[in-house]
Amino acid sequence: MGIGSGKGKTILFGEHFVVYGLPALAAGISSETVAKVTRKQTAGWVLKDKRPAVPGYKKEKSGEQNVSIQNILKYCNIDTKELGFQIELGGDLVCASGIGASAASSVAIARALNDEYSLGFDDEQINQAAYEGEKGYHGTPSGIDNTASTYGGLVWFTRDLDGGPPKFETLKLRKPVHLVIASTGITASTKEVVGDVRKKRDENSAWFEKLSSEYKQLVHDGRDALLHDDLQRVGDLMNRNHELLQEMTVSCTELDDLVEIARRNGALGAKMTGTGRGGNMIALAPDKLTMKKIAQALERAKAAGVWTTTFGL
Ligand code: MEV
Repeated sequence: MGIGSGKGKTILFGEHFVVYGLPALAAGISSETVAKVTRKQTAGWVLKDKRPAVPGYKKEKSGEQNVSIQNILKYCNIDTKELGFQIELGGDLVCASGIGASAASSVAIARALNDEYSLGFDDEQINQAAYEGEKGYHGTPSGIDNTASTYGGLVWFTRDLDGGPPKFETLKLRKPVHLVIASTGITASTKEVVGDVRKKRDENSAWFEKLSSEYKQLVHDGRDALLHDDLQRVGDLMNRNHELLQEMTVSCTELDDLVEIARRNGALGAKMTGTGRGGNMIALAPDKLTMKKIAQALERAKAAGVWTTTFGL
């Protein structure tokens, strides 16, 4: 049996902008998806998906998941025409839009295949295989999700728009940073939302350019503030990033409501994270105690899922 894992992720700054070559910051979280690959004596592959998930998520994504697995197999050069295998997916990452569930499972599957078929892949190749997997979920992934999922930590990421490898580095912070993640329970289609943003950008490039140029300054300021441990500034910039995403039309009432609840309960800043139009929001807490208070408030407000995570060390 081959086994592998991939971490969930959260985007602190830069979803959607990252697709167009602007830098973004993502943090791998401790929850992960685990894949186990067992060979069988018959052709083809079968999937047993035992991952915890918000209602509807797995059904919504199953078609894309099949394409994703085919893409990974192609990259790994594994032929199942005669002898195939079973993949079992599990782990503690609760699948919901915005938490990098598709990337985490792509990374986990690539690692499990690497283990079972002794492919000799290093992390760069695992990341590349997972990127091919991500293409199954939407045609033009930036690669930030699979990179954060493969390497973990706090990742400063820039896509190469000419198709070359992305540039990324892992940042180390002086102190750990506490985040609360809350789910709207709504499963969003990354393909549809990214496609819609592209359409709006094509129709009004001046509008998109204005958002992008403010975002570009914001993400550099966010990086500096994180590295200088200026959490109040990070929070303010997260709030502004949320407004830019609202202007981009990728937030929604359910996300805005969760963001407001987090802010009222002590968050230094809060924003949607990932694809948007559903999915998750993140809130920055000044300390562990406030992190718990924010999480409890979001639970009382009946968020579909609430998690806490710490990153930066
Ligand atoms: C999805 O987690 C993040 C997006 O920016 C898409 C991508 O980067 O591929 C919306």
